Amino acid sequence: MSVGFIGAGRMAQALGRGFISKGIVKPQKMVASDTSQSVLDVMKKQGIGTTTCNAEVVERSDLVVLAVKPHLVADVLQEISDFLTKEKMFVSIAAGVPLEVLESNLLLGTRVLRAMPNTACLVHAGATVVAPGKSIHSGDTSLVQTLFQTVGVCYVGTEDQLDAVTGLSGSGPAYAFTTIESLADGGVKMGLPRDMATKLAAQTLFGAAKMVLESGKHPGQLKDEVCSPGGTTITAMHALERGGFRGTIIDAVEASALKARKMGELELQKQEGRTLEIEQEVRMTKKMAEKN
Ligand SMILES: NC(=O)c1ccc[n+]([C@@H]2O[C@H](COP(=O)([O-])OP(=O)(O)OC[C@H]3O[C@@H](n4cnc5c(N)ncnc54)[C@H](OP(=O)(O)O)[C@@H]3O)[C@@H](O)[C@H]2O)c1
Repeated sequence: MSVGFIGAGRMAQALGRGFISKGIVKPQKMVASDTSQSVLDVMKKQGIGTTTCNAEVVERSDLVVLAVKPHLVADVLQEISDFLTKEKMFVSIAAGVPLEVLESNLLLGTRVLRAMPNTACLVHAGATVVAPGKSIHSGDTSLVQTLFQTVGVCYVGTEDQLDAVTGLSGSGPAYAFTTIESLADGGVKMGLPRDMATKLAAQTLFGAAKMVLESGKHPGQLKDEVCSPGGTTITAMHALERGGFRGTIIDAVEASALKARKMGELELQKQEGRTLEIEQEVRMTKKMAEKN
């Protein structure tokens, strides 16, 4: 299978590296396009073919990963429209661009999926959810899942879950970075050197996450197990609850998910505008032809 990336930025580079390191796609079978030469040079160093022409990526690939910023996706799909065939499969990682928008800019029946990865894919510890579009064939979703599993975990979900996924794992690394920074600040306040405090904070989150994933225990149970009666941890938990810790995190996930939903609605509105424009143009061309 040949794989192409339209947009060769951070995410495409992480995926390219993941596919190569797990031996799933050979570098010679990959090609990436971008407007910026410096990111193409990074791809080239990995042995991946490069071009500044998005259409060339479509021509040379069985599976095309759309990895440009969300506001560019529809324009890019328009730009490559003459080179589309139904045999090509598309995976969009653009946040908040609905399947309906992707499908309306591709040939009817094109196989397309949406994926919501996160920045931890850069260190092969990502969390991704893929949602299949309506024309997907059997085996396509598991193939894409296997590709994303080269850069972390990947679950299959439905498109209506992707806003919540964005709020949780998509934006989640930022909440975790801020938590690490806050823990380190606490350590510094209580006398630790900054470097040691940051490393301890990061390892603490890493260790706690590993315990949740490996023990299979409910996080609440693990929390109870470290809170000895009358001890330091339960005293700290009281301080967290007074500060509205859980409510704030839940609010953050909700805020990000609602923002993602709004972005999706805007993309759909823009698509409706584009469709109306095309219909108008077709009507005008027909009228002109009738006149002549
Ligand atoms: N990074 C994350 O954590 C993350 C998580 C989930 C989803 N995503 C999604 O992944 C997508 C890519 O994100 P990223 O972080 O990899 O962004 P990025 O590093 O900015 O990469 C996007 C690349 O696309 C290039 N580009 C711009 N216009 C183009 C065009 N017309 N044709 C081809 N390439 C073009 C950009 O070049 P210039 O810089 O020169 O414009 C840039 O190199 C986004 O849609 C984002 O929503 C990212």
